Amino acid sequence: MKVTVIGAGNVGASCADYLAQRNFLSELILLDIKENFAEGKAMDLNQTAVYNHFYTTIKGVTNDYPATAGSDVVVITSGIARKPGMTREELIATNAGIVKEVVLKALSHSPDAFFIIVSNPLDTMTYLAYKTLGIPRNKIFGMGGALDSARFKYYLSQALQKSPSDISALVVGAHSDTGMIPLIRWATYNGVPVSCYLSEQEMEDIVQKTKVGGATLTQLLGTSAWYGPGAAVAHVVQSILCNHHVIIPSSVYLEGEYGLQDVCIGVPSLISKNGIDSIKEIDLNEAELQQMRDVAASLQAINSRLFDNP
Ligand code: LAC
Repeated sequence: MKVTVIGAGNVGASCADYLAQRNFLSELILLDIKENFAEGKAMDLNQTAVYNHFYTTIKGVTNDYPATAGSDVVVITSGIARKPGMTREELIATNAGIVKEVVLKALSHSPDAFFIIVSNPLDTMTYLAYKTLGIPRNKIFGMGGALDSARFKYYLSQALQKSPSDISALVVGAHSDTGMIPLIRWATYNGVPVSCYLSEQEMEDIVQKTKVGGATLTQLLGTSAWYGPGAAVAHVVQSILCNHHVIIPSSVYLEGEYGLQDVCIGVPSLISKNGIDSIKEIDLNEAELQQMRDVAASLQAINSRLFDNP
Protein backbone atom coordinates (compact mmCIF):
# COMPACT_ATOMS: atom_id res chain seq x y z
CA MET A 1 0.00 0.00 0.00
CA LYS A 2 1.20 3.46 -0.87
CA VAL A 3 0.51 6.71 0.94
CA THR A 4 1.59 10.23 -0.01
CA VAL A 5 1.93 12.97 2.58
CA ILE A 6 2.05 16.42 1.00
CA GLY A 7 3.88 18.95 3.14
CA ALA A 8 6.95 17.80 5.08
CA GLY A 9 6.59 20.34 7.89
CA ASN A 10 6.01 19.36 11.51
CA VAL A 11 2.58 17.77 10.99
CA GLY A 12 3.46 16.03 7.71
CA ALA A 13 6.74 14.63 9.02
CA SER A 14 5.15 13.44 12.30
CA CYS A 15 2.40 11.78 10.32
CA ALA A 16 5.03 10.01 8.16
CA ASP A 17 6.89 8.96 11.32
CA TYR A 18 3.80 7.43 12.96
CA LEU A 19 2.66 5.81 9.73
CA ALA A 20 6.08 4.20 9.30
CA GLN A 21 6.07 2.97 12.90
CA ARG A 22 2.71 1.29 12.33
CA ASN A 23 4.55 -0.78 9.71
CA PHE A 24 1.69 -1.62 7.36
CA LEU A 25 2.68 0.40 4.27
CA SER A 26 5.06 -0.63 1.53
CA GLU A 27 5.72 2.89 0.29
CA LEU A 28 5.41 6.34 1.80
CA ILE A 29 6.07 9.47 -0.25
CA LEU A 30 6.79 12.73 1.52
CA LEU A 31 6.48 15.71 -0.82
CA ASP A 32 7.37 19.32 -0.15
CA ILE A 33 7.78 22.46 -2.21
CA LYS A 34 11.01 23.42 -0.42
CA GLU A 35 14.07 22.09 -2.25
CA ASN A 36 15.59 18.99 -0.58
CA PHE A 37 13.50 19.41 2.60
CA ALA A 38 11.37 16.28 2.22
CA GLU A 39 14.44 14.37 1.03
CA GLY A 40 16.20 15.29 4.28
CA LYS A 41 13.20 14.39 6.45
CA ALA A 42 12.79 11.07 4.64
CA MET A 43 16.48 10.20 5.05
CA ASP A 44 16.31 11.01 8.77
CA LEU A 45 13.12 8.94 9.19
CA ASN A 46 14.52 5.99 7.21
CA GLN A 47 17.44 5.95 9.64
CA THR A 48 14.97 5.26 12.49
CA ALA A 49 13.84 1.99 10.83
CA VAL A 50 16.28 -0.22 12.76
CA TYR A 51 15.13 1.11 16.13
CA ASN A 52 11.46 1.52 15.31
CA HIS A 53 11.29 -1.83 13.50
CA PHE A 54 9.54 -0.96 10.27
CA TYR A 55 9.88 -2.08 6.67
CA THR A 56 8.09 0.86 5.04
CA THR A 57 10.29 2.75 2.56
CA ILE A 58 10.01 6.51 2.89
CA LYS A 59 10.89 8.60 -0.14
CA GLY A 60 11.22 12.37 0.04
CA VAL A 61 10.66 14.44 -3.12
CA THR A 62 10.61 18.12 -4.09
CA ASN A 63 7.37 18.84 -5.96
CA ASP A 64 7.74 15.57 -7.89
CA TYR A 65 4.07 14.63 -8.33
CA PRO A 66 4.74 11.73 -10.74
CA ALA A 67 6.52 10.04 -7.79
CA THR A 68 3.18 10.04 -5.91
CA ALA A 69 1.41 8.09 -8.69
CA GLY A 70 -0.89 5.29 -7.66
CA SER A 71 -1.20 6.34 -4.02
CA ASP A 72 -4.02 4.72 -2.05
CA VAL A 73 -4.27 7.69 0.32
CA VAL A 74 -3.06 11.27 -0.08
CA VAL A 75 -2.75 13.41 3.06
CA ILE A 76 -2.72 17.19 2.56
CA THR A 77 -0.85 19.13 5.24
CA SER A 78 0.38 21.94 2.94
CA GLY A 79 0.09 25.58 3.86
CA ILE A 80 1.13 27.82 6.69
CA ALA A 81 0.47 27.03 10.36
CA ARG A 82 -0.92 29.55 12.79
CA LYS A 83 1.28 31.58 15.13
CA PRO A 84 0.32 32.52 18.71
CA GLY A 85 -2.72 34.81 18.78
CA MET A 86 -3.93 33.81 15.30
CA THR A 87 -7.16 31.94 14.59
CA ARG A 88 -7.18 29.12 12.06
CA GLU A 89 -9.53 31.24 9.92
CA GLU A 90 -6.79 33.85 9.37
CA LEU A 91 -4.93 31.28 7.26
CA ILE A 92 -7.60 31.07 4.54
CA ALA A 93 -6.14 33.62 2.13
CA THR A 94 -2.78 31.86 1.94
CA ASN A 95 -3.83 28.25 2.31
CA ALA A 96 -6.79 28.21 -0.10
CA GLY A 97 -4.58 28.72 -3.17
CA ILE A 98 -2.04 26.17 -1.99
CA VAL A 99 -4.62 23.48 -1.15
CA LYS A 100 -6.46 23.92 -4.45
CA GLU A 101 -3.26 23.53 -6.46
CA VAL A 102 -1.87 20.52 -4.60
CA VAL A 103 -5.10 18.48 -4.55
CA LEU A 104 -5.49 18.90 -8.30
CA LYS A 105 -1.91 17.83 -8.97
CA ALA A 106 -2.16 14.88 -6.59
CA LEU A 107 -5.47 13.66 -8.06
CA SER A 108 -4.05 13.72 -11.59
CA HIS A 109 -1.51 11.05 -10.55
CA SER A 110 -3.68 9.10 -8.09
CA PRO A 111 -7.24 9.18 -9.46
CA ASP A 112 -8.44 6.43 -7.09
CA ALA A 113 -6.92 7.82 -3.89
CA PHE A 114 -8.68 8.80 -0.69
CA PHE A 115 -7.85 12.39 0.28
CA ILE A 116 -7.46 13.45 3.89
CA ILE A 117 -7.31 17.20 4.42
CA VAL A 118 -5.35 18.48 7.41
CA SER A 119 -4.57 22.05 6.28
CA ASN A 120 -6.31 24.84 8.19
CA PRO A 121 -8.91 26.15 8.52
CA LEU A 122 -9.78 22.49 8.31
CA ASP A 123 -13.48 22.45 7.45
CA THR A 124 -13.11 25.28 4.93
CA MET A 125 -10.13 23.64 3.22
CA THR A 126 -12.02 20.33 3.12
CA TYR A 127 -15.00 22.03 1.46
CA LEU A 128 -12.69 23.75 -1.02
CA ALA A 129 -10.89 20.50 -1.85
CA TYR A 130 -14.17 18.59 -2.19
CA LYS A 131 -15.63 21.19 -4.56
CA THR A 132 -12.38 21.46 -6.51
CA LEU A 133 -11.90 17.74 -7.10
CA GLY A 134 -15.52 16.69 -7.57
CA ILE A 135 -14.84 13.17 -6.30
CA PRO A 136 -17.40 11.29 -4.15
CA ARG A 137 -17.65 12.56 -0.58
CA ASN A 138 -16.64 9.21 0.91
CA LYS A 139 -13.21 9.72 -0.69
CA ILE A 140 -12.36 13.16 0.62
CA PHE A 141 -12.72 14.38 4.17
CA GLY A 142 -11.02 16.40 6.86
CA MET A 143 -9.14 15.16 9.91
CA GLY A 144 -10.13 17.42 12.79
CA GLY A 145 -12.43 15.46 15.09
CA ALA A 146 -9.91 12.66 15.63
CA LEU A 147 -7.46 15.19 17.06
CA ASP A 148 -10.04 17.21 18.98
CA SER A 149 -11.49 14.04 20.52
CA ALA A 150 -7.98 12.98 21.63
CA ARG A 151 -7.56 16.38 23.31
CA PHE A 152 -11.02 16.07 24.90
CA LYS A 153 -10.05 12.65 26.29
CA TYR A 154 -6.77 14.10 27.54
CA TYR A 155 -8.50 16.88 29.50
CA LEU A 156 -11.09 14.42 30.83
CA SER A 157 -8.27 12.08 31.89
CA GLN A 158 -6.57 14.93 33.75
CA ALA A 159 -9.72 15.73 35.70
CA LEU A 160 -10.57 12.08 36.36
CA GLN A 161 -6.92 11.12 37.00
CA LYS A 162 -7.42 8.10 34.79
CA SER A 163 -5.84 6.95 31.52
CA PRO A 164 -7.17 8.65 28.33
CA SER A 165 -7.30 5.16 26.79
CA ASP A 166 -10.18 4.20 29.11
CA ILE A 167 -12.22 7.25 28.15
CA SER A 168 -14.69 7.35 25.31
CA ALA A 169 -15.62 10.81 24.03
CA LEU A 170 -16.14 12.64 20.77
CA VAL A 171 -15.98 16.16 19.41
CA VAL A 172 -18.18 17.19 16.49
CA GLY A 173 -18.69 20.55 14.77
CA ALA A 174 -15.85 22.61 13.35
CA HIS A 175 -12.12 22.29 14.01
CA SER A 176 -12.02 25.85 15.35
CA ASP A 177 -11.83 27.59 18.72
CA THR A 178 -15.46 28.70 18.54
CA GLY A 179 -17.01 25.95 16.40
CA MET A 180 -15.87 22.84 18.25
CA ILE A 181 -18.62 20.89 20.01
CA PRO A 182 -17.18 18.52 22.64
CA LEU A 183 -20.13 16.21 23.43
CA ILE A 184 -19.66 16.02 27.21
CA ARG A 185 -23.10 14.45 27.74
CA TRP A 186 -21.90 11.45 25.71
CA ALA A 187 -18.48 11.05 27.37
CA THR A 188 -17.87 7.96 29.49
CA TYR A 189 -15.13 6.46 31.64
CA ASN A 190 -15.21 2.66 31.15
CA GLY A 191 -18.86 2.91 30.17
CA VAL A 192 -19.91 5.18 33.08
CA PRO A 193 -21.02 8.73 32.16
CA VAL A 194 -18.36 11.23 33.31
CA SER A 195 -21.16 13.24 34.98
CA CYS A 196 -21.06 10.55 37.71
CA TYR A 197 -17.56 11.73 38.64
CA LEU A 198 -17.34 15.40 37.64
CA SER A 199 -19.25 18.53 38.67
CA GLU A 200 -21.05 20.74 36.14
CA GLN A 201 -18.28 23.33 36.56
CA GLU A 202 -15.51 20.76 35.99
CA MET A 203 -17.25 19.51 32.85
CA GLU A 204 -17.70 23.05 31.53
CA ASP A 205 -13.99 23.78 32.15
CA ILE A 206 -13.02 20.64 30.20
CA VAL A 207 -15.24 21.65 27.27
CA GLN A 208 -13.68 25.12 27.18
CA LYS A 209 -10.10 23.78 27.43
CA THR A 210 -10.81 21.33 24.61
CA LYS A 211 -12.11 24.06 22.32
CA VAL A 212 -8.91 26.07 22.67
CA GLY A 213 -6.68 22.99 22.90
CA GLY A 214 -4.84 23.86 19.67
CA ALA A 215 -4.46 27.54 20.65
CA THR A 216 -3.02 26.55 24.04
CA LEU A 217 -0.34 24.46 22.34
CA THR A 218 0.35 27.22 19.80
CA GLN A 219 1.02 29.63 22.69
CA LEU A 220 3.37 27.15 24.35
CA LEU A 221 5.20 26.08 21.21
CA GLY A 222 5.25 29.29 19.16
CA THR A 223 3.65 27.37 16.27
CA SER A 224 0.85 24.81 16.01
CA ALA A 225 1.16 21.32 17.43
CA TRP A 226 2.36 18.26 15.50
CA TYR A 227 2.54 15.06 17.56
CA GLY A 228 -1.22 14.94 18.21
CA PRO A 229 -2.18 15.90 14.65
CA GLY A 230 0.37 13.46 13.16
CA ALA A 231 -0.82 10.55 15.32
CA ALA A 232 -4.48 11.32 14.60
CA VAL A 233 -3.90 11.31 10.83
CA ALA A 234 -1.94 8.05 11.02
CA HIS A 235 -4.88 6.50 12.89
CA VAL A 236 -7.34 7.62 10.21
CA VAL A 237 -5.12 6.42 7.34
CA GLN A 238 -4.67 2.99 8.92
CA SER A 239 -8.40 2.76 9.67
CA ILE A 240 -9.09 3.12 5.94
CA LEU A 241 -6.34 0.91 4.58
CA CYS A 242 -6.80 -1.86 7.18
CA ASN A 243 -10.61 -1.61 6.95
CA HIS A 244 -11.02 -1.12 10.69
CA HIS A 245 -14.69 -0.07 10.76
CA VAL A 246 -14.15 2.48 13.53
CA ILE A 247 -16.16 5.59 14.30
CA ILE A 248 -14.02 8.70 14.02
CA PRO A 249 -15.52 12.20 13.95
CA SER A 250 -14.48 13.59 10.57
CA SER A 251 -15.26 16.68 8.52
CA VAL A 252 -17.52 15.39 5.74
CA TYR A 253 -19.65 17.07 3.07
CA LEU A 254 -23.21 16.75 4.36
CA GLU A 255 -26.24 16.03 2.23
CA GLY A 256 -29.05 16.40 4.74
CA GLU A 257 -27.55 14.57 7.74
CA TYR A 258 -28.30 16.42 10.99
CA GLY A 259 -30.57 18.63 8.86
CA LEU A 260 -27.50 20.21 7.22
CA GLN A 261 -26.31 20.37 3.66
CA ASP A 262 -23.63 21.91 1.45
CA VAL A 263 -21.11 22.19 4.28
CA CYS A 264 -18.14 20.15 5.51
CA ILE A 265 -18.37 19.77 9.29
CA GLY A 266 -17.27 17.22 11.85
CA VAL A 267 -19.74 14.35 12.33
CA PRO A 268 -19.32 10.81 13.72
CA SER A 269 -18.23 8.74 10.71
CA LEU A 270 -17.70 5.04 10.21
CA ILE A 271 -14.29 4.63 8.59
CA SER A 272 -13.55 1.52 6.53
CA LYS A 273 -11.92 0.55 3.22
CA ASN A 274 -14.60 2.77 1.66
CA GLY A 275 -13.25 5.84 3.46
CA ILE A 276 -16.37 7.44 4.94
CA ASP A 277 -18.42 4.25 4.96
CA SER A 278 -21.38 6.02 6.54
CA ILE A 279 -22.27 9.01 8.67
CA LYS A 280 -23.72 8.15 12.07
CA GLU A 281 -26.67 10.32 13.01
CA ILE A 282 -26.52 10.03 16.78
CA ASP A 283 -29.43 11.23 18.85
CA LEU A 284 -28.30 14.78 19.65
CA ASN A 285 -30.59 16.81 21.90
CA GLU A 286 -32.06 20.12 20.76
CA ALA A 287 -29.26 22.22 22.35
CA GLU A 288 -26.57 20.11 20.63
CA LEU A 289 -28.42 20.25 17.31
CA GLN A 290 -28.75 24.01 17.60
CA GLN A 291 -24.99 24.29 18.14
CA MET A 292 -24.45 22.20 14.99
CA ARG A 293 -26.78 24.47 13.02
CA ASP A 294 -25.05 27.64 14.27
CA VAL A 295 -21.56 26.31 13.52
CA ALA A 296 -22.65 25.10 10.07
CA ALA A 297 -24.11 28.54 9.29
CA SER A 298 -20.84 30.29 10.16
CA LEU A 299 -18.85 27.77 8.08
CA GLN A 300 -21.20 28.33 5.15
CA ALA A 301 -20.71 32.10 5.41
CA ILE A 302 -16.94 31.58 5.09
CA ASN A 303 -17.34 29.01 2.29
CA SER A 304 -19.48 31.38 0.26
CA ARG A 305 -16.49 33.69 -0.09
CA LEU A 306 -14.11 30.94 -1.22
CA PHE A 307 -14.97 31.04 -4.88
CA ASP A 308 -15.29 34.84 -5.21
CA ASN A 309 -11.73 35.29 -6.50
CA PRO A 310 -10.80 32.01 -8.16
C1 LAC B 1 -4.13 21.91 15.84
C2 LAC B 1 -3.90 22.36 14.43
C3 LAC B 1 -3.11 21.39 13.65
O1 LAC B 1 -5.27 21.92 16.27
O2 LAC B 1 -5.08 22.70 13.81
O3 LAC B 1 -3.14 21.57 16.52
